[in-house]
Amino acid sequence: MASTNPGNKSTRFFSPHPHSHTQCTRTHQIAALALIVGTFFLTRLFDHSLSSCTSPYRNSFSDPNQYIAPDDVVRFEGSGGYGTHLSLRIYVYDEDEIEGLKLLLYGREGKISADACVKGQWGTQVKIHRLLLQSTFRTKKKEEADLFFVPSYVKCVRMMGGLSDKEINQTYVKVLSQMPYFRLSGGRNHVFVFPSGAGAHLFKSWATYLNRSIILTPEGDRTDKRDTTAFNTWKDIIIPGNVDDGMTAHKSRLVDPLPLSRRKYLANYLGRAQGKAGRLQLIDLAKQYPDKLESPELKFSGPEKLGRTEYFQHLRNAKFCLAPRGESSWTLRFYESFFVECVPVLLSDQAELPFQNIVDYAQISIKWPSTRIGTQLLDYLESIPDKYIEDMIAKGRRVRCLWVYSPESESCSAFRGILWELQKKVRKFHNSAETFWLHNGSIVNRDLVEFSKWKTPMPLP
Ligand SMILES: *[C@@H]1O[C@H](CO)[C@@H](O)[C@H](O)[C@H]1NC(C)=O
Ligand SMILES: *[C@@H]1O[C@H](CO)[C@@H](O)[C@H](O)[C@H]1NC(C)=O
Ligand SMILES: *[C@@H]1O[C@H](CO)[C@@H](O)[C@H](O)[C@H]1NC(C)=O
Repeated sequence: MASTNPGNKSTRFFSPHPHSHTQCTRTHQIAALALIVGTFFLTRLFDHSLSSCTSPYRNSFSDPNQYIAPDDVVRFEGSGGYGTHLSLRIYVYDEDEIEGLKLLLYGREGKISADACVKGQWGTQVKIHRLLLQSTFRTKKKEEADLFFVPSYVKCVRMMGGLSDKEINQTYVKVLSQMPYFRLSGGRNHVFVFPSGAGAHLFKSWATYLNRSIILTPEGDRTDKRDTTAFNTWKDIIIPGNVDDGMTAHKSRLVDPLPLSRRKYLANYLGRAQGKAGRLQLIDLAKQYPDKLESPELKFSGPEKLGRTEYFQHLRNAKFCLAPRGESSWTLRFYESFFVECVPVLLSDQAELPFQNIVDYAQISIKWPSTRIGTQLLDYLESIPDKYIEDMIAKGRRVRCLWVYSPESESCSAFRGILWELQKKVRKFHNSAETFWLHNGSIVNRDLVEFSKWKTPMPLP
């Protein structure tokens, strides 16, 4: 997108919305879009600015101090959030219980280690499994379970050559056919993690077998790449990507954030171009504005590859961290930004974000049309006063615990968020096209065989 008339800048960005109330300025509205945690704001903020502005939100940028109360930042319970309390029983399938499950965890030779798979941006498949094994919400009785978790590290196993696509597909089908409870609900109460942009497409025939199950994935809509999306906004759950443990640690982080005044760049994008339009545009833009935008073309390996620490040292050196889409719409950079305390700017139109019941992303990040990557974007970012940036950063600092896969004992964590989301999916009753029930509560199949007598392998789907 070509740059627009720079003289017109402020009116372009802050001109009143045609439908807005006249007493609300655009600045009010932009500021007001900001809501981090529902419960918190409802109680603390509403009573303030409503008199001068009919927007349901308030100008939260005017006084960044008045609403920060340490205990209140991320609260799952209460109105506007997820409910009153967590009460959930999850059965985790054991690797020895189901034939084939070990293949999905360790590959055909059983040599792929979970410790290797827990690293990197796809580590969520291992972390969530481990957290569930330790969880107080785990049950060992299938008959009392609300949900069933099917562990699998296939993203990692596939990357390491442990299984081919064909083997993955066949193994999943075999595994599912040994689960009477999967058949009972048609898969509706079974939970799977697919940690990468491919989502459930890692299992080729997912659309036949898993199209009713609960899928945990960082990836939203992918209709741009495939004709069907594996993500369904009603039944599936968006999870945060796995940020490097060295950055999410409470103490002694790999690198610490810099004060705003010491940051060299307005914005940065640090990643590989992978031939993606948005990324290539950013790399070009950085050549035009080398003082404002840091965006070298990075490589997978060789001298131009940044080491782990080096990467974060660069990332922290800008006020805004640009997060364009890559192969798919989710981007780990969005989550990483919070740990170096730059304001993430999403340049990925289809991105879906986690925990939207309690997080208002307009308060902690910016989303800009990916079709408008150019001088206009840099002009806009430059027009934002530092106090707004500081304010967004301060709020982000309080929300980022939601991106950390810390132990269940932490009141704010990615895992807690996921548990609350899962709880919303729990149903009292399950049935499928192949499930029937009688006057006395007996569940039977089409041949009137009682559930306890169902034999594996089950017919699927
Ligand atoms: C996946 O496996 C099932 C069962 O073996 C088979 O029917 C199906 O065609 C396979 N899907 C693909 C895409 O190969
Ligand atoms: C799910 O898969 C089954 C079996 O292929 C199919 O009959 C059904 O239409 C699919 N449902 C959805 C919502 O795609
Ligand atoms: C329920 O009724 C059916 C049909 O009369 C019978 O076969 C079954 O054993 C009963 N189940 C229980 C739990 O009593």
